[in-house]
Parts: sequence; structure tokens; C-alpha cells
Amino acid sequence: MKLTPRLSKNTLIFGGSAVWGLLLLGCMVVGRTALVVPHVPGAAFVGDKACAECHAEQVAGFASASHAKLAFADPKLGTTGCEACHGAGSLHVKDGGMKGTIVSAKQVSESCFACHLEKRGEFSLANSHQVMNGKMSCSDCHDPHSGSAIKGAGAAIESANDTCIKCHTAQKGPFVFAHNAMKEGCIACHTPHGSVNAKMLVARDANLCLRCHVQTTDRNGTIFVGGADHRTRLQSGTCWIAGCHEAVHGSNASKSLRY
Ligand code: HEC
Ligand code: HEC
Ligand code: HEC
Ligand code: HEC
Ligand code: HEC
Ligand code: HEC
Ligand code: HEC
Repeated sequence: MKLTPRLSKNTLIFGGSAVWGLLLLGCMVVGRTALVVPHVPGAAFVGDKACAECHAEQVAGFASASHAKLAFADPKLGTTGCEACHGAGSLHVKDGGMKGTIVSAKQVSESCFACHLEKRGEFSLANSHQVMNGKMSCSDCHDPHSGSAIKGAGAAIESANDTCIKCHTAQKGPFVFAHNAMKEGCIACHTPHGSVNAKMLVARDANLCLRCHVQTTDRNGTIFVGGADHRTRLQSGTCWIAGCHEAVHGSNASKSLRY
């Protein structure tokens, strides 16, 4: 499966080379929402080249990074991609990297919201990964400095799942009876950021499973799913309650995904 970025209107406003012109203004308003560039008081932009002297690793990898494509080349400064997330760097460079002179690794999730405004909403939903309280950060799943920002994108789906499995070992398997849905990736059933649905599911109840499993009805009104009569079963609502398919990720006991 190809992972395609779905960019919102808000993000698109920042697409293309206009980005940096707008950013340099420091702050603008789209609709009723203020977008604020990470602000380091008293600092000016210096360009990526100035960072290379001390952060060769990040600068070298950056050419392949999703966000490098956006960088606007200022005739004097060159590209200013690093500073889009870390804030203007002149004081930091001048002080040889003194603490508090740049938007730190800890604070930087906040700067992602400057452009990915809608993500703040996603992470504020009732069921979401704990980014807003600082327990997790965007970089647990995204690589800001090199390659695709979506880890595993473009590669085998397994490597996209690896991002999730490093924390969620229970879902890793292998299982005696695998659920082939897992080959489509965790995001076939879960939203990675947040959801109104419990367990960050993309759909509620039987609707989740019926996205892939066809439900057919015969002349007598019998409802079949997976070739079996599901008339009374579907009345339970979810397909993964005890006694049905509670081992949704895979089972070591039953082909029908039970414990
Ligand atoms: C003269 C050397 C030097 C230059 C030039 C430099 N830095 Fe740093 N930077 C440092 C040092 C030293 C640290 C502290 C490293 C540490 O704590 O391990 C640091 C830390 C950082 C951190 C982590 C801060 C934290 O608290 O998490 C970021 C982000 C950073 N630099 C970004 C940049 C950017 C962006 C540029 C270019 C605009 C840049 N640096 C230029 C020396 C430099
Ligand atoms: C898309 C936003 C983004 C851009 C662009 C970006 N960074 Fe970062 N940077 C981050 C995030 C997020 C972290 C925290 C990483 C983590 O928690 O592991 C970070 C961390 C750092 C650190 C601390 C050490 C580390 O790797 O964790 C340094 C130094 C740094 N960045 C330098 C740079 C330089 C130099 C550039 C430009 C070549 C740059 N960054 C571009 C988001 C960005
Ligand atoms: C200056 C604005 C800006 C900032 C700051 C920014 N982004 Fe982005 N980001 C964009 C734009 C524009 C795109 C679309 C790029 C494209 O189409 O290739 C994008 C794309 C992405 C994508 C999808 C990449 C892909 O390969 O499809 C991810 C994931 C992402 N950003 C995460 C982050 C994270 C995490 C941070 C903070 C560490 C961040 N962004 C900070 C503007 C920004
Ligand atoms: C738990 C892992 C995880 C965390 C934490 C996370 N993301 Fe993502 N993000 C993903 C995955 C997986 C995708 C790919 C989703 C897809 O292709 O449907 C993605 C896609 C994106 C995209 C591109 C597609 C879209 O939905 O617009 C952007 C932008 C993005 N994330 C921004 C962020 C920002 C900003 C943060 C931090 C505030 C963040 N993400 C934190 C896993 C995560
Ligand atoms: C850095 C570790 C980490 C990564 C990476 C991670 N998660 Fe999580 N995830 C957590 C933590 C911690 C919680 C529990 C949050 C809580 O208690 O509210 C959680 C909660 C969840 C839940 C909800 C569980 C519940 O009980 O409501 C789901 C579903 C989930 N993650 C799926 C994913 C998927 C899919 C990915 C990959 C896109 C992923 N996670 C990546 C740490 C991680
Ligand atoms: C076929 C759909 C589907 C796929 C694919 C899927 N999940 Fe789930 N996941 C579910 C359902 C349904 C639940 C709720 C189970 C429950 O409430 O008992 C769930 C629950 C979870 C939970 C919460 C566990 C708990 O005990 O509360 C985590 C964490 C999780 N999934 C992670 C993942 C990860 C990581 C992947 C990819 C490796 C993944 N899921 C793939 C459907 C799926
Ligand atoms: C992303 C698509 C997808 C989703 C969503 C999905 N499945 Fe599956 N499921 C599959 C595929 C593919 C197979 C293997 C082919 C088959 O047997 O139809 C499978 C097989 C199964 C089997 C084994 C059938 C057998 O007898 O071998 C059960 C049981 C099952 N799924 C239950 C569920 C439940 C319950 C849900 C909802 C939580 C669900 N599936 C959601 C794709 C999916």
C-alpha cells in the first residue's frame, strides 16, 4: 500500500516557495487561527550552512528529508530549513550552542503545529497518543532530519508497522493464526494521531470489520459474513467481544481469531 500524504487546506497554504516568505513575517492569520513561527527573542535567521559546522550529521541527512523540499533559498542565507522548526539561530550560533538559544528537541513538537495546525485537534481528541502532555513527541513516529518524514513510507508495510510495534510489542506476533489485515498495516484500523472512537479505531463496531469483510444477505434474510450466518451475532455490536473474534490482531488458538 502506498502511503500518500493527505494535506489539509491549512497545510497547503504553506506549500511551495511562498512558505518561507510568510514564515519570515513571523506570524500570520488564516481564518481565525494565528500561525506562529517558533520565536527566539532577538535572534535572526542564519541559514542551514551555519548549522553544518557543529551539526554535520543533521545537515548532511537533510537533503533527503521531506521538509527539505520546501526550503526557500534566500540569496544571502541559502536555505533556512532547520530554522523553520528550531527558530532563528543567530544567537545560538554566536554563543556556540548555549542552552535556551534555540527551540530545543523537547519543545519542537509545538513548532510542527505552526504548519500542521489540524494536528493539534487530532491529538486533542478523547482517544489519542499523548503528545499534548509531552509524554510522546512527533519524532517517536516521524523523522524530521532525513528521508521520508513518515517512517517506513514507500518501503514494505512491515517497516511502517515497526514504528508502532517498537512500543506495542503485544501486537507484534508472529501468531499461529495471523490476521491478514495486519499486512495492510496498523493504520488500516487505527488512526495514528487520535480518534473519537475508542482505541483510536478508524470506525466503530462491526463497521470496522465490514470495511474489508463483505456482508451478504440471501432470500431468507440470512446475513452472511465470511460464509457463516451472522444474524444474531451482529446484534452484539462489536465483532471482537468475548467469544467472537477477540484476538483481532492474530491468535495462537483459533483460525477464527479467538483467545
Ligand atoms: C558553534 C557550534 C554550533 C552551531 C553553529 C550550531 N549549533 Fe546547535 N548546538 C551546539 C551545541 C554545543 C549544542 C548542545 C549540544 C548538547 O547539548 O549535546 C547544540 C544544540 C542544538 C540543539 C538541541 C537543543 C536542545 O536543547 O535540545 C538544536 C535543536 C540545535 N543545536 C540546532 C541548531 C541549528 C538549527 C543551528 C543552525 C541555525 C545550529 N544548531 C548551529 C552548537 C552549535
Ligand atoms: C521538521 C522539523 C525539523 C527540521 C526541519 C529540523 N529539525 Fe532538528 N529536530 C526536530 C525534532 C522533532 C527534534 C527532536 C528529535 C528527537 O526527539 O529525537 C530535533 C532535534 C534536533 C537536534 C538535537 C539532537 C537530535 O538529533 O535529537 C539537533 C542538533 C537538530 N535537531 C538540528 C537540526 C538541524 C541542523 C536541522 C537542519 C539541517 C534541523 N534540525 C532541521 C525537528 C526538525
Ligand atoms: C514550515 C512549515 C512546516 C513545519 C514547521 C513542519 N512541517 Fe511537516 N510538512 C510541511 C509541508 C508543506 C508538507 C508537505 C510536503 C510535501 O508535500 O512533500 C509537510 C509534510 C509533512 C509530513 C508528510 C511527509 C510525507 O512524506 O508525506 C509529515 C509526517 C510532517 N510534515 C510532519 C512534521 C513534523 C513532525 C513537524 C515538526 C517536527 C513538521 N512536520 C513541521 C510543512 C511543515
Ligand atoms: C504514534 C505515531 C505518530 C505520532 C506520535 C505522530 N504521527 Fe504523524 N503520522 C503517523 C503515521 C503512521 C502517519 C501516516 C498516516 C497515513 O498515511 O494515513 C502520519 C502522518 C502524518 C502527516 C501526513 C498525513 C496527514 O495526516 O496529514 C503529518 C503532517 C503528520 N503525521 C504530522 C504529525 C505531527 C505534527 C505530529 C506531532 C504533533 C505527529 N504527526 C505525531 C504517526 C504518528
Ligand atoms: C513511543 C511509543 C509508542 C509508539 C511509537 C506508538 N505508540 Fe501507541 N501508544 C503508546 C502509549 C504509551 C499508549 C497509551 C496511551 C494512554 O494510556 O493513553 C498508546 C496507545 C495506543 C492505542 C490505544 C490503546 C488504548 O488502550 O486505548 C492504540 C490503538 C495505539 N497506541 C496504536 C498505535 C499505532 C497504530 C502506532 C503506530 C502508528 C503506535 N501506537 C505507536 C505508545 C506508542
Ligand atoms: C483488523 C483491524 C486492526 C488492525 C489491522 C490492527 N488493530 Fe489494533 N485493535 C483493533 C481493535 C478492534 C482493537 C480493540 C480491541 C479491544 O477493545 O479489545 C484494537 C486494539 C489495539 C490496542 C489496544 C490494546 C488493548 O489491549 O486495549 C493497541 C495498542 C493496538 N490495537 C495496536 C495495534 C498495532 C500496533 C497494530 C499494527 C501492528 C494494530 N493494532 C493493527 C483492530 C486492529
Ligand atoms: C484491512 C482489511 C481487513 C479488516 C479491516 C478486517 N479484516 Fe479480517 N481479514 C482480512 C483478510 C485479508 C483476511 C484473510 C482472508 C480471508 O479469510 O477473508 C481476514 C481474515 C479474518 C478472519 C479469519 C477468517 C477465517 O476463517 O480464516 C477473521 C475471523 C477476521 N478476519 C475477522 C475480522 C474482524 C473481527 C475484523 C474487525 C475487527 C476484521 N477482520 C477486519 C482483512 C481485514
